[in-house]
Amino acid sequence: MKITVVGTGYVGLVTGTCLAEVGIDVTCVDIDVKKIENLNKGIIPIWEPGLEPMVKRNFEAGRLHFSTNLSEVLAGSKVVFGAVGTPPDEDGSADLKYVLEVAREVGRHMTEHLVMVTKSTVPVGTAEKVRTALQGELDKRGSDLKFDIASNPEFLKEGDAVSDFLKPDRIVVGVESQKAEDIISKLYKPFTLNGHPVRL
Ligand SMILES: NC(=O)c1ccc[n+]([C@@H]2O[C@H](COP(=O)([O-])OP(=O)(O)OC[C@H]3O[C@@H](n4cnc5c(N)ncnc54)[C@H](O)[C@@H]3O)[C@@H](O)[C@H]2O)c1
Repeated sequence: MKITVVGTGYVGLVTGTCLAEVGIDVTCVDIDVKKIENLNKGIIPIWEPGLEPMVKRNFEAGRLHFSTNLSEVLAGSKVVFGAVGTPPDEDGSADLKYVLEVAREVGRHMTEHLVMVTKSTVPVGTAEKVRTALQGELDKRGSDLKFDIASNPEFLKEGDAVSDFLKPDRIVVGVESQKAEDIISKLYKPFTLNGHPVRL
């Protein structure tokens, strides 16, 4: 399966690398050109036990790619994770501008059905905003392409992120269709063989 992770920060890089480790074809995208250039040279922006060798191994195996160009990498992606930052707004609530910009960009460039998964930490009701933002761009294109949205909050701890991702005690995903459930269950299957469930 081919997927795209948008936002190659702490959560995006760990998520993308751990999914590549179990055989998924992953492209991590970021608007930070220097970060992507460095990753393509094997320079990792964060320190996390086990991450650096895993990034290198999967990059060299051709399962993990880094890009600044979402429009070029979306084709064929069954799942797009949004893992961009949600800095506190003036009133302390999460600022969704990056999350919604990713949804709009996906709407502008997607070419086939995909599941748009929000991994950023966001308030209740964000999924509807993501749907509206993405659909708005499809409407502007006059496109009748279909998509699903899903929520998959991340609980990893800095300092133990790789281990938390590879050995989760549960994975929590909110989906709205059987199709999205099937795709997400397949994606996470290697992590649930230990008997720990995906909660859908
Ligand atoms: N760091 C953690 O331990 C942790 C744990 C659980 C959840 N979270 C949540 O996950 C989300 C991401 O956190 P993080 O720590 O990985 O953030 P981060 O700041 O490390 O990374 C976010 C990345 O997104 C990129 N970005 C912003 N807009 C973009 C766009 N339009 N297209 C592509 N890339 C874009 C930025 O350049 C940056 O590299 C936040 O909502 C955070 O609250 C973080």
